[in-house]
Amino acid sequence: MHTLIILGSPRKNGNSETLAQAVADGILQHPHATLEFIRLNDLKISPCQGCGGCNKTSTCVIDDDMTPLYEKVDACDQLILVSPIYFYGLSAQSKIFIDRFQARWARKYLANIRFRMDEQRKGYLLATAATEGKKVFDGALLTARTFLDAIDLEFGDSLLVRGVDQRGAVKKRNEILEQATAFGKEILKDA
Ligand SMILES: Cc1cc2nc3c(=O)[nH]c(=O)nc-3n(C[C@H](O)[C@H](O)[C@H](O)COP(=O)(O)O)c2cc1C
Repeated sequence: MHTLIILGSPRKNGNSETLAQAVADGILQHPHATLEFIRLNDLKISPCQGCGGCNKTSTCVIDDDMTPLYEKVDACDQLILVSPIYFYGLSAQSKIFIDRFQARWARKYLANIRFRMDEQRKGYLLATAATEGKKVFDGALLTARTFLDAIDLEFGDSLLVRGVDQRGAVKKRNEILEQATAFGKEILKDA
């Protein structure tokens, strides 16, 4: 069971990455689990140009560090999108990555190809925010759901942490890290 963890924060070892590591600890308690972290900020990924090139081919015309990620996403059994909340949405790194999946949207909705739909592959969202705002994760959740639909993964669950701002703030919240490891164990049981 292979899990792809997409890290969308520019901050190394920040709150969302720390949360993702705790989830990974839970996942790796399963003897057959494998996982890979992809840190988007280390890659050069251009934003979607809206050129429509993928409408006919289901393939993006841009060749950059995104190119191998399409296959990695197709090959994974579950995907975890990890992002800080920026202005009530996902980080720019996360959103640029997602927008490039317009090519997969085209595969699904224009070419009518359903991908590994019988396998019940799932996707998850982990997100952190500084405030306690009631709606602070609403935008990110909507985008994550739409993204997962385009790549033919079912939305599984989310782990959303409010009230963490400074880098490392979440490390002081043991109960949250324990919850994250339990979340990792649980989602693998699901798969
Ligand atoms: C550009 C920017 C925009 C942000 N916008 C919000 C916001 O709208 N709401 C909020 O609660 N926190 C906001 N934050 C705070 C981050 O979501 C918070 O610090 C988060 O824990 C950072 O996660 P990271 O350490 O993984 O990057 C913002 C931070 C930055 C740098």
